[in-house]
Amino acid sequence: MRKELKLPLLPLRGILVFPYMISHLDVGRERSMAAIEEAMLGDKKVLLASQKEMEIDSPVSEDIYSIGTVAEIKQLLKLPGGTMRVLIEGICRGKILEYLTEEPYFSVLVEEHQDIEKASTLDLEALTRGAIHQFEEYAKLSKKVPNETIGTVLAIEEPGRLADIVASHLNLKVSEKQSILDAVDIEQRLEQLTEFVMREIEILELERRIGLRVRKQMEKAQKEYYLREQMKAIQKELGEKDERQVEADGYREKVTQVKLPKEVEQKALKEIERLEKMPPSSAEGTVVRTYLDWLLVLPWSKVTRDKINLNKAEEILNADHYGLEKVKERILEFLAIRKLTPKMKSPILCFVGPPGVGKTSLAKSIARALDRKFVRMSLGGVRDEAEIRGHRRTYIGALPGRIIQGMRTAGTRNPVFLLDEIDKMTSDFRGDPASALLEVLDPEQNNTFTDHYLEVPFDLSQTFFVMTANTLDPVPRPLLDRMEVISLSGYTEDEKVKIANNFLISKQLKAHGLTEDILPLNEDILLKVVQGYTRESGVRNLEREVAAICRKVATRWVKKDWSPHQLNEEDLESLLGVPRYYFQMAKKNPEIGAVTGLAYTEVGGDVLTIEVTPLPGKGNLTLTGKLGDVMKESAQAGWTFVRAHAYELGIAEDFYEKVDLHIHVPEGAIPKDGPSAGITMATAIASALAKRFVRSDLAMTGEITLRGNVLPIGGLKEKVLAAHRAGIKVIILPEKNRKDIEEIPKPVRSVMEFQFVNRMEEVLELALLPGASSPESVPEAVIRNVISTRTIPLGEPRPGDHPISSPTV
Ligand SMILES: Nc1ncnc2c1ncn2[C@@H]1O[C@H](COP(=O)(O)OP(=O)(O)OP(=O)(O)O)[C@@H](O)[C@H]1O
Ligand SMILES: [Mg+2]
Repeated sequence: MRKELKLPLLPLRGILVFPYMISHLDVGRERSMAAIEEAMLGDKKVLLASQKEMEIDSPVSEDIYSIGTVAEIKQLLKLPGGTMRVLIEGICRGKILEYLTEEPYFSVLVEEHQDIEKASTLDLEALTRGAIHQFEEYAKLSKKVPNETIGTVLAIEEPGRLADIVASHLNLKVSEKQSILDAVDIEQRLEQLTEFVMREIEILELERRIGLRVRKQMEKAQKEYYLREQMKAIQKELGEKDERQVEADGYREKVTQVKLPKEVEQKALKEIERLEKMPPSSAEGTVVRTYLDWLLVLPWSKVTRDKINLNKAEEILNADHYGLEKVKERILEFLAIRKLTPKMKSPILCFVGPPGVGKTSLAKSIARALDRKFVRMSLGGVRDEAEIRGHRRTYIGALPGRIIQGMRTAGTRNPVFLLDEIDKMTSDFRGDPASALLEVLDPEQNNTFTDHYLEVPFDLSQTFFVMTANTLDPVPRPLLDRMEVISLSGYTEDEKVKIANNFLISKQLKAHGLTEDILPLNEDILLKVVQGYTRESGVRNLEREVAAICRKVATRWVKKDWSPHQLNEEDLESLLGVPRYYFQMAKKNPEIGAVTGLAYTEVGGDVLTIEVTPLPGKGNLTLTGKLGDVMKESAQAGWTFVRAHAYELGIAEDFYEKVDLHIHVPEGAIPKDGPSAGITMATAIASALAKRFVRSDLAMTGEITLRGNVLPIGGLKEKVLAAHRAGIKVIILPEKNRKDIEEIPKPVRSVMEFQFVNRMEEVLELALLPGASSPESVPEAVIRNVISTRTIPLGEPRPGDHPISSPTV
């Protein structure tokens, strides 16, 4: 049923009115009000058509959808301000055929479209039912559709009307609603509607799920908050304190109990106050709590009383260590003075020596002798300043440095604090730990040592610091300056045997559940162990070998395979295997171009042979054996000396034009350095060039200058002990080292001959055999190699002393 009519047009902004829908419209635009007035004069009908863009104020025909709703004005209300409100009811669809006038209002020619009731097909039925069903679901989810509306919608029988009414209840955009309005065909309309409803349902479902999730989280927080508030209220009613207050009060009580220095106490109270104001589970709260625990647990004022009894202390020191008289004496001195002036500052000792000589264990006995607590901190590999002084509290997981941690472990302010292996400390971009130690070890400053973490000063002045090092070379001067260095040198074979006998054996027997009756070890056999199975300055390997013997004997004893008897050499081989070391004994026969030197390494003294071979060439010097710069330079100095004295030595004066020299120091893979092999190399060069033999039972050490002066060297004791072990009888030493000879144990001193020299000439005279002129000391085979026989007394300046740079006459 189609009908054409002329109607005033009311353009709508942002809304769309469907047929059968009743709604209020507020009308404000001039043209729209004119259109309403015109309609009111006639049959009250207008065409409602939506604008495509809501923003446009004065639309033209293209801005308006061409299908709208023919509606009847039911009521008109003029509002103050000149606008009007109309109540309007949609009747049917209307299609704009033509715009007739535009002023004073739009007048359009409209073709009316009433829904034509077709005979119900199965398709239509299905679509209708689907739409009803979906609308129900939608209404249930959206909760915005009132129940009575649902009722009326369900009661609608005409499918077209149903679609329009449902669409009017959906939350759709105007353009989407328009597409339903555009669908004049009912089936098409229902299909379009179904699509929209389904989409809306999906969105609502999603919204619901998200809402549910959020609500769950909210509920939990809210519940907690609520419960907490309730608890607070209950606590208040009962006159109780809340959790935070209880905690803070607990801390406050501890502060009064532990007797903190004023400054620390104030700091602690301030932090407690801060803690009280923080939410109990905040991360910051945990940081403050850890900090307070540190403040409260440190021994700010706790000290152990020194029980000073010199005799008892001496007993303890002797019970733990053999020998080491100098160290023991120093400790007893400290105790004596401590007794006289209890307020004195503690000394800072540094034990330097090869491994296994008892540095670490000595520090432990000091603590025992003083009856103080003992803490040990290894500085090996420490490369970060923060390890000494802590991290600032702003860092996550910050803790105090190791010094403060050590004090906590000690539990007193005056422990014996061992800083082990200070020479193994390194520095990198994270700061220099050695500089941080400067403050720790300065008696003038360390009563206010400030750890970055603690932020308040801690008094370290009563702490007895002991350091150990294998060598002092890597230790920075300022640090070295603060400590009293006590050198511990290696032990002689004799001392080692004594240490084993008095200390190590009983310790190891006990550790292995044996007794002296089962495994008696006498000094002879111990000496065999020392000589054949160990090669060290200290006694660590010796202890290990003793432990190995105990272990093996214990196994045999359990297997009933051992009858208690004094261990003999045969047993030793079956327990420990064949001896591992044959001492690098002094060479039996004199040689040309090979001289025994003495070296001092981190692991003690050693003997080394320096070899020189001349080759036809052009005066080049080749040095091998991993020599350091200093050692190379002293070889050069030796060479220059020999060249300058070629005449006296009976060396062809133009030798340096015809000969290359190769100097080698075995063992080739071990790096060597230092000036103390100077005279040894010079002697070897002289021997090689002059073709004179070197005494085989002799060793030497000393630095050489270009002019042939012999300068003193260090590590004398270690070197002499090594020479003794190697069976050397005579040692040439710099005169200036004469005073150090006192350090050498008497038994060694008495069997060796020391020759002190000032000049290189003296060295050569002592070391070089007078060529082939004394064949009784030179083996036949060697003599045959001797080419030059000319000898000239050494030390005798040759006629017209020459400058070094021009060795020829
Ligand atoms: N004079 C001694 N008397 C008794 N036992 C000793 C003596 N010297 C060392 N020892 C023992 O030797 C072992 C090794 O000593 P310690 O660990 O103290 O060596 P160290 O000098 O600290 O070596 P490193 O430089 O390698 O750390 C310990 O069991 C110690 O008891
Ligand atoms: Mg040690």
